Amino acid sequence: MTIQNQPILDEKTISIIKSTVPVLEVHGESITSLFYQRLFENHPELKNIFNQTNQQKGKQSKALAGAVYAAAVHIDNLEAILPAVKQIAHKHRSLNILPEHYPIVGEHLLAAIKEVLGDAATDEILNAWEKAYGVIADVFIQVEIDMYKENEDKIGGWKGYRDFDVMKKVKESDVITSFYLKPSDNGSIPSYQAGQYITVKIEEGAPYNFLRQYSLSSRSNNDYFRISVKREAGIDGNPDGDVSTYLHDFVEEGDTLPLSAPSGDFVLGESEKPLVLISGGVGLTPLVSMLETAVVEQPNRPIYFIHATQNSNVHGLRDAVKDITDKYSQVKSYVVYDNPLENDQFDKVGFVDLSWLQSIIPTNQASFYFCGPEGFMRVINRALKEWNVAEEEINFEFFGPAGSLD
Ligand SMILES: Cc1cc2nc3c(=O)[nH]c(=O)nc-3n(C[C@H](O)[C@H](O)[C@H](O)COP(=O)(O)OP(=O)(O)OC[C@H]3O[C@@H](n4cnc5c(N)ncnc54)[C@H](O)[C@@H]3O)c2cc1C
Ligand code: HEM
Repeated sequence: MTIQNQPILDEKTISIIKSTVPVLEVHGESITSLFYQRLFENHPELKNIFNQTNQQKGKQSKALAGAVYAAAVHIDNLEAILPAVKQIAHKHRSLNILPEHYPIVGEHLLAAIKEVLGDAATDEILNAWEKAYGVIADVFIQVEIDMYKENEDKIGGWKGYRDFDVMKKVKESDVITSFYLKPSDNGSIPSYQAGQYITVKIEEGAPYNFLRQYSLSSRSNNDYFRISVKREAGIDGNPDGDVSTYLHDFVEEGDTLPLSAPSGDFVLGESEKPLVLISGGVGLTPLVSMLETAVVEQPNRPIYFIHATQNSNVHGLRDAVKDITDKYSQVKSYVVYDNPLENDQFDKVGFVDLSWLQSIIPTNQASFYFCGPEGFMRVINRALKEWNVAEEEINFEFFGPAGSLD
């Protein structure tokens, strides 16, 4: 895809933008906190969209403005950042972000920049940023319009939220429960790529909605979506997770959940290379979908499925993985427990490390996909880089605002 009708910015504007990005980055924290404070004061309805827990923890707040600055660095060649735009656009589409939201964000970002920079924010600088934001926003809007259309045009596709009934609720472990979801209108559901996620909207129990993403944990099929949710209990005095606890404690078979359509770019690619799927804790959900898909659609690929968790009590989707491993000889499955119980069966005690990976996987010429807690993903990422795995074969998903593993 290319960017159409992108307005050309004049040389002067481009040079002002490029020279002021570092200044804005220095003031990153103050600009973003002022931006969100004002945004929610003037548009409280946006609290229905933004994850308020992420706001309190301060993680996501840096992502939006940071991405605007990152785009601004490439303001004269925005094609270069299209892959990054698409990844964000998948999240935006899943959250139903619309073109009319962009001017609101732009206005408040500009106002925050103006206030924090004070006298240093000359009219010339502010005008340049207004133009640049407009150009960047147009790229996102264009990419997202295309995504909405592609999705709506799919058989069974929809825009926004659609009600689904919980047809089955299955306890997978002490902490993970699966929900099998069918459209309440009995219509068809779209096919999706293994690894994609949906957004669940919870409307009860608070003045504002809660939106959370959950990976689809089974192979795409015509009948239902399955999500598998870990109960996020509060630790160190923090409150329990809002949506995961609500789903575990209050959502039962027959209840209805509004969902957005499948989205996301962490997806199983076409290849003949060995496939290595490495998960930590509940991070196994997209990888189980990839496993179920690959054994059927890519039967010539050797598959290594590695799952690390504490012990059998919290080991979710174990039977689903075992059934596949028993049935398909191309799959080798490994279990790593760091705190095993007395009668637990596992392949390794402790943690996944490079020398162990090299002992079970015969080659680094493989496609690697991993997902789990951030610390776990950092270790796996470092190990794969040390093993000289090709950059394009290293794929991962954050179960929260995307960040860097370096
Ligand atoms: C692409 C994607 C796919 C995902 N797939 C899955 C999946 O398949 N299965 C799954 O279980 N999850 C998945 N997640 C994570 C999921 O979206 C939620 O983030 C998760 O369920 C927690 O949401 P919650 O509302 O229960 O917790 P939140 O209310 O968002 O809280 C999150 C955590 O922060 C703690 N906390 C709350 N308030 C504070 C505070 N003030 N300070 C510090 N800590 C605090 C809570 O105790 C909790 O542990 C995915 C996320 C993404 C982005
Ligand atoms: C050019 C403008 C924008 C940029 C560069 C941008 C960038 C980003 C980035 C980098 C993320 C994090 C992605 C991830 O988690 O993987 C994000 C998430 C998000 N964005 Fe945007 N965004 C823009 C505009 C908007 C607008 C207009 C809205 C709607 C008002 C919006 C709402 C959100 C929400 C709700 C999230 C998820 C945050 C959360 O979980 O709390 N964004 N955006």
